[in-house]
Amino acid sequence: MTAAGDSLRFPAGFLFGAGTSAYQVEGAVDEDGRGPSSWDRFSHEPGRVANGETGDVTSDHYHRWREDVDLMAEIGLTAYRFSIAWPRVQPDGSGPANPAGLDHYDRLVDALLARGIAPCPTLYHWDLPLALEDAGGWLSRDTPERLADYARRCFDRLGDRVHTWFTVNEPWVAATLGYRLGLHAPGHRDLREAVVASHHLLLGHGAAVEAFRASGREGRIGIVLSLAPTEPASEDETDREAARGSDGYTNRWFLDPVFHGRYPDDTRAVFEGLVGPLAEIRDGDEARIGTPSDLLGVNYYTRRVIRAGTADGGLPWTVEPASPSVQHTDTGWEITPWKLTELLEGLERWTGDRPILVTENGCVFLDQPDPTGRVADTGRVDYLRAHLAAVHAAIGAGANVAGYFHWSLLDNFEWAEGFRSRFGLIHVDYPSGRRLLKDSAKAYARIIAAQ
Ligand code: FCB
Repeated sequence: MTAAGDSLRFPAGFLFGAGTSAYQVEGAVDEDGRGPSSWDRFSHEPGRVANGETGDVTSDHYHRWREDVDLMAEIGLTAYRFSIAWPRVQPDGSGPANPAGLDHYDRLVDALLARGIAPCPTLYHWDLPLALEDAGGWLSRDTPERLADYARRCFDRLGDRVHTWFTVNEPWVAATLGYRLGLHAPGHRDLREAVVASHHLLLGHGAAVEAFRASGREGRIGIVLSLAPTEPASEDETDREAARGSDGYTNRWFLDPVFHGRYPDDTRAVFEGLVGPLAEIRDGDEARIGTPSDLLGVNYYTRRVIRAGTADGGLPWTVEPASPSVQHTDTGWEITPWKLTELLEGLERWTGDRPILVTENGCVFLDQPDPTGRVADTGRVDYLRAHLAAVHAAIGAGANVAGYFHWSLLDNFEWAEGFRSRFGLIHVDYPSGRRLLKDSAKAYARIIAAQ
């Protein structure tokens, strides 16, 4: 691939960031009053995570955050997306805040600002306090209210300095992998539960936006969605119909209520045909999910090619395996940057003139340090450049994209994959915690410096 990306100029103020999430990078699961989360229990259950790995220590960011902020500054990042661990703030998921938990994020925010890096926290990136998991998790209608209560405590403590907030990370993944496919906490396998969980995650988003407005804080807030550009496997009408169905399932089920205050009729009909009436969606819920927010976070990794057929759980479409004619990452995900351009260009009918932030985009390449300490991750360098060029092209075509956050700043605990997936711009040697900037981090630094 060419060096596309190095010579690109982005609009003034465009955020160049990287992202992490608390359970994936922090470790220190028993420190400073942190309570247990759904992922602590899940990762410790035999057979849930590759090689029985857990987030107990992982990248040790809870202790090494100062060094990590220095590395961010060395790359020249202008924004950092991290998540606040709810079980640090409310160890049991409700009640008064644990001051030591909030102190940690307070210090992190100050250190970022001192380096000119905008702190962009996500309130909920899947580490549900265990007490709430045991009270029904996202199947409970109370969990969204608890999320709003927790969010309020974060706004109160950090809202004088944090101006960009994300509510819920990827409700589709949380609901589907957690409640339909059994791959993420809490490990259930039930389509009906997945739909109900998605509704309550969305309600949690709406409730958190309401709480933000009520806090009177200045700033902007929005949801983070994993959006999968969907294309039919052929021009056959049945495949086209299947692709539209799948687009409803992964994308429109979230975009429509968040931005238009209403679930899409076609997707709701598919769900109700399979699992019966969705009485959990009560009058007023969709309007609450649609409480006006200020931005959209888009996580993009790859496309989905769809064929008619019936998948696990009865959904009337299947996802095609990766095509051998398309380049792929070390985990076999297709590298399809042109779909990111298309995706960003197509979002205006939901977002209007609100900004879009690419909140995650990245790849697994497993390159290890050579004897001199260099990590020559050329696959990631190419991926990064190609996707920045794709964002640039979308902006050129009129899309209002205000920032890009590479996933991830650090190699980390990749959920059910454990440590065998490395997504970082920075290599982490887990036994020692040592960090090394990979070639991709240096390439990103050059792109940022050239602005
Ligand atoms: C997304 C998650 C993030 C990370 C990347 C690879 O689905 O939001 O935590 O695991 O995938």
